[in-house]
Amino acid sequence: GATTEVDLSAIQPGQAVKTIFRKQPLFVRQLTPKEIAEANAVPTSSLRDPQSLADRTKPGKQQWLITMGVCTHLGCVPLGAGEGENKGPFGGYFCPCHGSAYDTAARIRQGPAPKNLEVPDYVFRSDTKIEVG
Ligand code: FES
Repeated sequence: GATTEVDLSAIQPGQAVKTIFRKQPLFVRQLTPKEIAEANAVPTSSLRDPQSLADRTKPGKQQWLITMGVCTHLGCVPLGAGEGENKGPFGGYFCPCHGSAYDTAARIRQGPAPKNLEVPDYVFRSDTKIEVG
């Protein structure tokens, strides 16, 4: 399948953008130090889908969270990747369809979704460019 390049240079800490990968929404987010600390403060074993932030990011690039923008319940597009959108009670993403709330590592924390937002295959081509797929 086709790959998608994403330029990270304009994405500020605390900002998330929505783009498209293989006709589905893709969220690209630069976490703030506070958001990283919040994600790392949660005991992984307490999670419904136990993954650490390190499991979901690349070594040395913990601030870059790349996930599909597809709720793992029934596939709605969660909010939180646009300016001023509701990030939900755990500060990551919020699915308005049935109230699934994701945290700052896009892990499911509340509501019916069974899994974390999916992290697609991607690589860093440079400090400011990733290739997804
Ligand atoms: Fe997201 Fe149901 S599709 S909570």
